[in-house]
Amino acid sequence: MCAAKILFELTGSIAAWKACAVISRLVQDGHEVQTIATAAALQFIGPATLEGLTGRRVRSDMWDRGTAMDHINLVKWADVVVVCPATANTINKLAAGLADDLVGALFLAHDWKKPFLLAPAMNPAMWAHPATRAGVEKLRGWGVKILPVARGRLACGDEGEGRMIEPEEILAAIRESLAPSAVGRVTPRGASVDVAGSVTRPTAKPHRRVLVTAGGTEEPIDGVRTLTNFSTGRTGALLAEHLRAWGCDVTLLRAHRATPPPAGVRGETFVTFADLRGALERLLGGEHFDAVVHAAAVSDYAVAGLRVNGQPLPPGAGKLGTEQKIAIELAPNPKLVDHLRAWSRNPELRVIAFKLTREADAAAARAAVEKLFAHSRADAVVHNDLAAVDAATGRFPATLWRADGTSTALESREALAHAIATLIADNERGGAGAPPSTLTRERRSQEGPAPAGPCAPDEARDPRAEHSPNH
Ligand SMILES: Cc1cc2nc3c(=O)[nH]c(=O)nc-3n(C[C@H](O)[C@H](O)[C@H](O)COP(=O)(O)O)c2cc1C
Repeated sequence: MCAAKILFELTGSIAAWKACAVISRLVQDGHEVQTIATAAALQFIGPATLEGLTGRRVRSDMWDRGTAMDHINLVKWADVVVVCPATANTINKLAAGLADDLVGALFLAHDWKKPFLLAPAMNPAMWAHPATRAGVEKLRGWGVKILPVARGRLACGDEGEGRMIEPEEILAAIRESLAPSAVGRVTPRGASVDVAGSVTRPTAKPHRRVLVTAGGTEEPIDGVRTLTNFSTGRTGALLAEHLRAWGCDVTLLRAHRATPPPAGVRGETFVTFADLRGALERLLGGEHFDAVVHAAAVSDYAVAGLRVNGQPLPPGAGKLGTEQKIAIELAPNPKLVDHLRAWSRNPELRVIAFKLTREADAAAARAAVEKLFAHSRADAVVHNDLAAVDAATGRFPATLWRADGTSTALESREALAHAIATLIADNERGGAGAPPSTLTRERRSQEGPAPAGPCAPDEARDPRAEHSPNH
């Protein structure tokens, strides 16, 4: 990666301190960083800090003497523009095309051959507000790369989505936008143009069509009860949101009670295993998808029959009484993940499968991943262990295994989404369908530690469930 000129714009959020960590790393990477700070941003971070980090005077006031044309000149100077943190106020101002400060004027003067990244940071209510939702969509449509937000506890004490993602993730996005190999750019209308040899936009190719499955299936026992799991579909919904933010055209096929699709993501629902299977066959056979991210918690078993006081009864009807002696007969469901390519009208479909284990050691986890590769011929398997996942703190360690035997350890859902987006955008198939034996060799480029154990695509899968997800 060559040294680049980075225009780094800070706005008035408490997350400004995290932006300083990003700036520091960019400077250490050898980049020239010019900071712009709104008046509100300077309430959070002093000019001395920004100047000390970058060795350059921070710019804030459009009317500073001797800098009259900087709202144009800085656009010409920069290779990439980053707004971090981006407040609700700034997002909505930019979306309205207002230019009454330097950040707004620079945005209107932006040269769309250059990447423009924006890392939102705000309270969940501000993030969920229709004005902000509309602003984000408008900016995205103009070619701004909106980085995802994180979920968790905010400085205000509220909990939810809106927290700025971590410096490492922002750095990864900036580095990607500077990757010398990428040449595709997005114009304000979203059309792609080729710009050889200069800085670039993120790896995710716009308009890749991705199908994400999420949530748990429900198998009817009687007319009011089901066999299911605790999957919330949160991970799938978050992956869908991130993939959408990275420029993909996303369909979220989710359990009917699971987390609803985020803005800009098309949604479909399923209840039973049979529903999910039917929907997968219909969607993959009827439409072109580039990839499936199969994060749904699919029941390994269907309810094949009931015995009530020794008498056989078909499942799914009536209501079983409380005084009866009931036996439930289970029959194994087929593995949907094994059939995705066969159902797909796109023979090049990329398949990302998920493997959940529970308190498995490294060897057991790896064996489970190998087994999944063997029968599914997936391009990648996301593995995590229920024991390592913490729904309260949002901790979500996972390992992304590729079919060529390489792996990446990931600490959060955001990092996982980023890794999957990169994988989907990558033109190299990376050994899709490679024999599972490749996994028994040494990992060729080990980017992270060996898997610590089992994996949970959905942190809320029922730890007490007798069956494991059907992968
Ligand atoms: C302590 C404090 C923290 C704030 N944090 C945020 C924040 O994280 N995100 C946000 O959108 N606004 C936040 N605000 C409100 C903005 O600072 C305010 O809307 C301001 O006008 C933004 O101006 P700017 O977008 O020009 O920087 C905060 C305000 C205060 C007083």
